Amino acid sequence: MSLIRFSNVGKSYDTQSGRRVPALRGFELELKRGEFFCLLGPSGCGKTTILSLLAGFEAPTTGEILLDGEPISGTSRDRGVVFQGDNSLYSWLTALENIEFGLRLRRLPRKIYRPKAMEYLRLVGLDGQQDKYPAELSGGMKQRIQVARALANQPKILLMDEPFGALDAQTRATMQRELRQIWRATEASIFFITHDIDEAITLGSRVGIMSAGPGGTLQQVIEIEMGDERSRSDLTYVDYYARIERAVGHEVNRAGKRIQEPV
Ligand SMILES: Nc1ncnc2c1ncn2[C@@H]1O[C@H](COP(=O)(O)OP(=O)(O)OP(=O)(O)O)[C@@H](O)[C@H]1O
Ligand SMILES: [Mg+2]
Repeated sequence: MSLIRFSNVGKSYDTQSGRRVPALRGFELELKRGEFFCLLGPSGCGKTTILSLLAGFEAPTTGEILLDGEPISGTSRDRGVVFQGDNSLYSWLTALENIEFGLRLRRLPRKIYRPKAMEYLRLVGLDGQQDKYPAELSGGMKQRIQVARALANQPKILLMDEPFGALDAQTRATMQRELRQIWRATEASIFFITHDIDEAITLGSRVGIMSAGPGGTLQQVIEIEMGDERSRSDLTYVDYYARIERAVGHEVNRAGKRIQEPV
């Protein structure tokens, strides 16, 4: 059985001006256990909407999302979320306390949660930084703590919405490498949203491409059949890039045309 199954999922929002706008239409996808799925698409096509439905922050307008065969209803620790930017950490808690926050909510004893949190702190390469507060950490470190905090709950799937978008190119490349290593080490299932083609090819076992919004849907899925070493100069890589760029470029053009169309 697939881990997650989207069937004809749609979402519309009522805007403040009283109009109803479609954010997502007829979205169909099956996510396999243990896969690293990257979702790519132009701005406004509904990527964050999908993540928010998957996380259970809001309910779909049409269709259903099943997790292990059960409809998703509300948030749960079986889905860990890592957002864009680095503002979601608790500023009054240290790095370690942030990571163990979810474990403490589950009323686990300290002798269980402390070593577990330390294990995840080490996994994201932050050994020695445990007593620092978020304000004393760099953007990359804060993102690592978000990842560690989500993983510490041992979710069935990790949901990430452009988590490295605000980082400089160097830190971003390091984080991508580390995330793939963590994925290998933990056999986690990851659903990762990005609008960066390189990031999708570097990370994903499959890349889903959305059609342009408003009211976007899944256009195609490309399987990335490459090992862990993914070099941009590799011919296979260049091929994937060209293929994905064509698909995305086509959608961006469509979105641009729609914006120019008179209403
Ligand atoms: N709460 C809301 N109320 C009204 N419209 C919304 C709301 N959230 C999203 N939308 C609309 O739904 C569409 C999809 O938004 P969404 O945030 O999912 O796009 P996205 O693909 O994540 O874009 P980006 O790449 O810019 O982050 C957009 O047209 C957006 O304006
Ligand atoms: Mg978004």
